[in-house]
Amino acid sequence: MNLAQTVMERCDVLASCTEEAGAITRPFASDSMRRAQEHVRHWMEQAGMTVTRDNVGNLRGRYAGTGDGVLLLGSHLDSVRDAGRYDGPLGVMVAIAAVQALQDAGRRLAFAVEVLAFADEEGLRFGSTYLGSRAIAGRLGDEDLRRTDADGLTMAEAIRAFGGEPERISDDRWDGPRPLGYVEVHIEQGPVLEDLGLAAGVVSAIAGQSRYEITFTGEAGHAGTVPMELRRDALVAASEFVTGVDAQARIRREIVATVGRLSVRPGAANVIPGEVTLSLDVRSPDDRKRELACADLLVLADQLAPRIAVHVTPVSERAAVACSPRVTALLQDAIGQNAVALVSGAGHDGVYMSEITDVGMLFVRCKGGVSHNPAESVTVEDVGVAIDVLGRFLELL
Ligand code: HGY
Ligand code: MN
Ligand code: MN
Repeated sequence: MNLAQTVMERCDVLASCTEEAGAITRPFASDSMRRAQEHVRHWMEQAGMTVTRDNVGNLRGRYAGTGDGVLLLGSHLDSVRDAGRYDGPLGVMVAIAAVQALQDAGRRLAFAVEVLAFADEEGLRFGSTYLGSRAIAGRLGDEDLRRTDADGLTMAEAIRAFGGEPERISDDRWDGPRPLGYVEVHIEQGPVLEDLGLAAGVVSAIAGQSRYEITFTGEAGHAGTVPMELRRDALVAASEFVTGVDAQARIRREIVATVGRLSVRPGAANVIPGEVTLSLDVRSPDDRKRELACADLLVLADQLAPRIAVHVTPVSERAAVACSPRVTALLQDAIGQNAVALVSGAGHDGVYMSEITDVGMLFVRCKGGVSHNPAESVTVEDVGVAIDVLGRFLELL
């Protein structure tokens, strides 16, 4: 079996590591993540890497070189709920395959290659993103460790249960010499490469994103007895907000905005909704445009008052990150002719890795641009291209 087929097969194995039978849901520090890491550890060791796991739960495989420098590769092993099988794992598996190719050829580069399998990029369990790369960038703090999951467990407790020491999270910070770079292979999660008939492309910048949690409080009441004109229905108000978010994002260039999660309380058929909590995710490659859009959307929420109380909690905010021209140019050389550069609307761990080194990304075509969806798919041929490009990049570097 060639390396590309091995990558595809390993993505299938990781897809079976899930909290939900029949779906792929692999949260931070979960049993399914533990099972996934056992496989990845074995594959890293097979490729000649020395494997360690840090406190936050990143798996790190190191393939020694003849010199002092180190190049970082990687992506994330966690998933969203009911995910596809390639968002994250493909990048880790392609990185391991590139190292496997070196080992099979008995090659040692002038620098070490370290593959990082991040513990959490999506933020499914604790609502905050990039936990793994933030720990390596030294940006994970006590406030994060106090966050609680749906069961009321703190992140610190989850880390301890997973085998890490939350009080030593600062040991995860990169303390070696500045790495030669960080390169992440990832599915495009958009339709551009497919439209252009290209297997791979590079990333020019990763869009900035703002996330909020917004609560609308009206008054619960009897669905049969409260006259319509006296109601303070939180769900009707929240629905006005949701359609307003969509309308505003459609008229603004370079802005995308999403309400992905919404909960209604008390959530009974014969009770007027008293309270609604929803998530708001706003992104743009242009930070100024994103900030203006957020300000206008929060005004939109406020306009629902005074009949409805609105409480806005900022969850996270990250500016757009430009990829390194140096690393990106080498990736384009490795791709060869007409290597297109795309802006990534999706967030990636390169956002925080850019704080410790130069970042580059290699996008792989995915069918219909579909992602965060079980229908996510790539071809074994395109995976083969990605492995070859990454191998050429290592030689060029
Ligand atoms: O939300 C994102 O952009 C990424 O999938 N975490
Ligand atoms: Mn991803
Ligand atoms: Mn994702």
